[in-house]
Amino acid sequence: MGSLPRARLAVRPGPPLGGSFLPPGDKSITHRAYLLGLVAAGETVIEGPNRGHDCEATLTCAASLGAIVSRRGRAVALEGRAGVLREPDGVLDCGNSGTTLRLLAGVLAGQPFVSRLDGDASLRRRPVARILAPLEAMGARIDAAEGGRVPPLTIRGGPLRAIDHRAEVASAQVASCVLLAGLFASGRTSVTLPMPARDHTERMLAAFGVPVTVTGPAPGSRAVTLAVTGPAVPRATRVRVPGDFSAAAFFLAAAAARPGSVVTAVDVSLNPTRIGLLGVLERMGAGVERMHVREEGGEPIGDVTVRGPARLAPCAIAPEEVPAMIDEVPAWLIAATAAEGTSELRGAAELRVKESDRLRVLATALQALGLACREAPDGLTVTGGPIPGGVVRAADDHRIAMAMALIGTRATGPFAVEQAAGIATSYPEFELALGSLGGALEDSAAGAPS
Ligand code: S3P
Repeated sequence: MGSLPRARLAVRPGPPLGGSFLPPGDKSITHRAYLLGLVAAGETVIEGPNRGHDCEATLTCAASLGAIVSRRGRAVALEGRAGVLREPDGVLDCGNSGTTLRLLAGVLAGQPFVSRLDGDASLRRRPVARILAPLEAMGARIDAAEGGRVPPLTIRGGPLRAIDHRAEVASAQVASCVLLAGLFASGRTSVTLPMPARDHTERMLAAFGVPVTVTGPAPGSRAVTLAVTGPAVPRATRVRVPGDFSAAAFFLAAAAARPGSVVTAVDVSLNPTRIGLLGVLERMGAGVERMHVREEGGEPIGDVTVRGPARLAPCAIAPEEVPAMIDEVPAWLIAATAAEGTSELRGAAELRVKESDRLRVLATALQALGLACREAPDGLTVTGGPIPGGVVRAADDHRIAMAMALIGTRATGPFAVEQAAGIATSYPEFELALGSLGGALEDSAAGAPS
């Protein structure tokens, strides 16, 4: 069994998954640790970072901008630039990673040189007007393709003004981009989100000695305002990266989907802005238990066990629940397709501008399996049922490939996921983790349907 994901996964249907596993390091936290390590004064040591292509792209960009990077076993150390980056020689390649591109743009807006950010075909479809508006208001000059809509970006950075920005979407990437730019502006820079989003940047800036003030939500509103006062140079520190809940989610949801299945994710992030899926699985009737909960480096961490009930109920997910499970919708479908009845998701139009148009790709894949699944402009409706087997396409989207592979573990016939190589962007060890829980992929495509 190879450890690198393959373009075509032929899944061997089998008994319910069981056991414990260590998820990979949290991707969002790793990106932030590399970027703050780049900007900080001193040496930042990051233990247990995510080793997927997305975070490696951020690390390579950090090195191109002058951070001295060394690998020490499972840790990565960065000697930072104390706020003054080195002008890069060429284009900064962000690969498939929207987080790399949008957060790095905030840092580069404050640097007195021209930089170019680009990535793969999927990244070139991701919206960037949402970061151009605040960065240009702060004084950076930025060109983007298609009239400022999509990458590549050319950033002419320089001295920045502090602003108060109101974001239209509850995007942690937008908030983080503005806060990082705020490090290079004089005065208080704030960003207001319509709903709370993942708060890793706020927590990590505090750990690097730069406090972020958070106000809201006020009664009758869900909006939150985050603010940082610049200029500020983060102080290097040690970061221990917890396991990625978004990676663990596939196996936890797969446990919920099979009666008798018991799966434990060990040392996983339990940041409340990320774990909305756990509440949803509980509502559907799964057993959810959290153990050894503690805080490390300002982030909550612990173990989570999910038990599959005899009967899984369908559920409705409301728009206000979406930010805390924005990346877990593909994983949720592993459970929703096993529920007795029709589940519904609303308020998730953002999923159309992720690594793929996730609503479209997921609906098409489930329909190809013969399930009743309808697409709405901002969500999905899906009725659970048996999985007969078949071939589905993941559109090179890592999260869809992993979700489909786990749906395949309860198929009654041969099952394959095509366009699945993207799994390496976030979870190169996926196949090994699946194997350790009793699942398996076929050694070759032989025997799988074509
Ligand atoms: C991320 C924020 C989310 C999420 C993405 C990672 C981050 O994107 O979907 O996978 O690390 O800040 P948005 O900020 O666009 O919602």
